[in-house]
Amino acid sequence: ILNDVFKMLTGLNAIIVFLPRFNIIAAVKNGSPLVFTKNKQGFFIASDASALVPYSKKVFFIKDGQTLVINPQGEDLYNLNNKKIKLKFTLLQYDQEDIGLKNYPNYMIKEISEQPKILTNLVNHEKNNIIKVAKIIKKAYGTYLIGCGSSYYACLSGTYLFSKIAKRHINASICSEFSYLIDFLKKESLILTLSQSGETIDIISSVRKAKTKQAQILSVTNVLGSTLYRMADYKLLLNAGPEKCVLATKSFTAQIAILTLLAYSLNGGYDHGVKEIKRAIKEIKKIIGNQNLKKLAKKISHKRHIYILGRGTSYPIALESALKIKEVSYIHAEGFAGGELKHGVIALIEKGTPVIIYNPSDETYADTLSSAYEVKARGAYVIGISDQPNQVYNEFIRVDNCGEATIIANTVIAQLLGYYLALEKGYDPDKPRNLAKSVTVK
Ligand code: G6P
Repeated sequence: ILNDVFKMLTGLNAIIVFLPRFNIIAAVKNGSPLVFTKNKQGFFIASDASALVPYSKKVFFIKDGQTLVINPQGEDLYNLNNKKIKLKFTLLQYDQEDIGLKNYPNYMIKEISEQPKILTNLVNHEKNNIIKVAKIIKKAYGTYLIGCGSSYYACLSGTYLFSKIAKRHINASICSEFSYLIDFLKKESLILTLSQSGETIDIISSVRKAKTKQAQILSVTNVLGSTLYRMADYKLLLNAGPEKCVLATKSFTAQIAILTLLAYSLNGGYDHGVKEIKRAIKEIKKIIGNQNLKKLAKKISHKRHIYILGRGTSYPIALESALKIKEVSYIHAEGFAGGELKHGVIALIEKGTPVIIYNPSDETYADTLSSAYEVKARGAYVIGISDQPNQVYNEFIRVDNCGEATIIANTVIAQLLGYYLALEKGYDPDKPRNLAKSVTVK
């Protein structure tokens, strides 16, 4: 009966039904994710594999059209023709120490603090996989980076990193817009998809559409066996461990590190990329221990607007930083390309408006410094993030130069600032209002 009813439904859905008369629970889905696991205590179904990790690391991803029926004796799986089929479980590759809060007060700070370890594992163990994927990008006729939210800002960083390091043009698009941009795709095109969860519906539907053009799909996700992972022709895992806080932190820096190493692999400089990321890891450790960020949060927590400026590779980081701050502290924050200041943003600067300036010593340094002077002249409270102090900054946060990986370290400053702002205002950093970790509906 359940299958008959299900066949009548249109659109995306994930449905769990409890039938007390038969003492069964049945689960069925189309498009949206459902993941199942069991242990001695019982059976568990969730929309995201990471929610199941505390119960078991062996999970089963229910496929579209399959019906999972659970009764006190066990579980059975049926296809659309009511034929019984076997469940194939996936073993999630998470370390025991990744699971639970340990001694941290919440997941956001736990996941921010895990970044040095995750990046170290990445540079120590992923060389072969990254070089393999770089070869696929090299062969492709046009590569397109797509993602949503933070993952999209990582995509945008990728366009700069590939241009700068690998001298290669790669487009980036937000997934919710990508389906309006795909008419030019060919079977030689490569879609490089970034998604922590591998379940975001906009990325899944973009991939479905790209597949109708026979384009090749490369997935970079954090969840082995997720929908995106299964749909992809080529796969790379972030190996960042389960990310439970709604805000993307460690998955974002892992994405940027992978893109940096992919770009370096294309120019034959993989080992140089590793050296830069190792320098960033050192900086991240310093940033995590920097108590001044807490004091800064206290000073600016009553502000209504925060602006963030960066040029070049620091521009996507300005966007991601603004997203972090607004998601968790509910303060209006906007990131801008430094050069856009005069095209409107400067009208918003009032006496005391906090403006964060990413100003690493790269080709953007002098122009960004002049933006700092311009906002200062309009009364802004200027927070400079750079390896070079300057009198223009009211607050200075030193981040030593780590080459292209400086942006990885810089991101952690905004993550922590957002975190401390949320604590200052008494908000739960793990579950900001109105947001979901996996956005599985359009
Ligand atoms: C939601 C989350 C964001 C995340 C975005 C994309 O909006 O709150 O933190 O960046 O989805 O998620 P994905 O799993 O595809 O990277």
